[in-house]
Amino acid sequence: MLATPPLSLYVHLPWCVRKCPYCDFNSHEARGALPFAAYVDALIADLDHDLPLVWGRTVQSVFFGGGTPSLFPAEAIDAFLQAASARLRFAPGLEITLETNPGTAEHGRFEHYRAAGVNRISFGVQTFDDACLQRLGRIHDSAQADAAIKLAQDAGFDNFNIDLMYALPGQTLAMAEHDIARALTLQPAHISHYQLTLEPNTVFAVKPPAGIPDEDASWDMQERCQALLAEAGFTQYEVSAYARPGRQCAHNLNYWHFGDYLGIGAGAHGKLTLGAAQSILRRWKVKRPAEYLAKAGTPAAIGGDEAIEPRRRPFDYMLNALRLVEGFALGEFEARTGLARAAIAPQLEQATERGWLDIQAGRVVPTDLGRRFTNDVIALFLED
Ligand SMILES: C[S@@+](CC[C@H](N)C(=O)[O-])C[C@H]1O[C@@H](n2cnc3c(N)ncnc32)[C@H](O)[C@@H]1O
Ligand code: SF4
Repeated sequence: MLATPPLSLYVHLPWCVRKCPYCDFNSHEARGALPFAAYVDALIADLDHDLPLVWGRTVQSVFFGGGTPSLFPAEAIDAFLQAASARLRFAPGLEITLETNPGTAEHGRFEHYRAAGVNRISFGVQTFDDACLQRLGRIHDSAQADAAIKLAQDAGFDNFNIDLMYALPGQTLAMAEHDIARALTLQPAHISHYQLTLEPNTVFAVKPPAGIPDEDASWDMQERCQALLAEAGFTQYEVSAYARPGRQCAHNLNYWHFGDYLGIGAGAHGKLTLGAAQSILRRWKVKRPAEYLAKAGTPAAIGGDEAIEPRRRPFDYMLNALRLVEGFALGEFEARTGLARAAIAPQLEQATERGWLDIQAGRVVPTDLGRRFTNDVIALFLED
């Protein structure tokens, strides 16, 4: 039986000052003044349209992602949150995160985000090396990253994340270590540490930059940085996520536990368990901001609806749960997919034989080897 899991709300804000050459997110270079008020109206119409899918359920977290949400003035964020909390039950004290590009931080803005209800900021810093930042096409330097974070701290944000990338063009192990040390001096609650990937359809995929570290060098960076973070009191709880005690990202954890989320905004993806129908629905919205603005709130704004059929659920579940250092409970697999654990017994057996997974007391936990080959482990669960 499918049980109804916790529900999160994802809100996509699709514009950036400039498109970074490595980025395949649904982000569009802002040309001229952005239609903030019209976009908030579109978000609310979009939410109204999807509300019947989540009647009566409580929202456990909200995440404003992008694009660059910090391009939006606090009044726009406030207007959306007020409208959303009038339509959906917000859990007391729920986590509300807003992604911020340090190149967009202005004095006074963080106080207003805080007053609007935002209680967690995620900064896209990437690296503190100014030459690397230039090669990545970023709009800010390291001094601006420091300054943006200090502004947020002065406004009372202690729960903030720093996004760093490693295996950057021209980066050495010492440079990657230095990034961690610099980030730690800013006292973040959370660090996301992503290996740079060359995503298809990006400028970097077409014309890869020189000097990208090879797999072994990248792995050394990952291991060394993980050790530095552990020494500083940060525990790795997911492939790329490290947190101080009690500061894990509730929103992302819900994804990794195969929870439900409503996706509002241009190109946003949602995943919803429909208990009465015993089905799981994926829904995504049209990607282009102009089209979204014109169609939000109507069926034409839906880019696609797709049921996650039972035979596909093991793979989709593993794609998320096997990213977690603590793995998953077999009981949770059953509740979230509606399948019996017997459905994955052959793959679990193969993975344990290869030394990739450990199964103890009803929990499936990736081993060190399994964590090195996460993609291979997940691939075992692909439907035939
Ligand atoms: C939507 S962006 C975050 C906020 C904001 N847009 C910014 O870049 O400052 C999410 C994060 O994903 C990471 N990211 C984006 N593209 C990546 C890639 N190709 N490889 C690895 N990490 C990537 C970056 O660390 C980035 O901060
Ligand atoms: S600022 Fe962030 S979302 Fe925008 S293009 Fe760069 S990495 Fe992508």
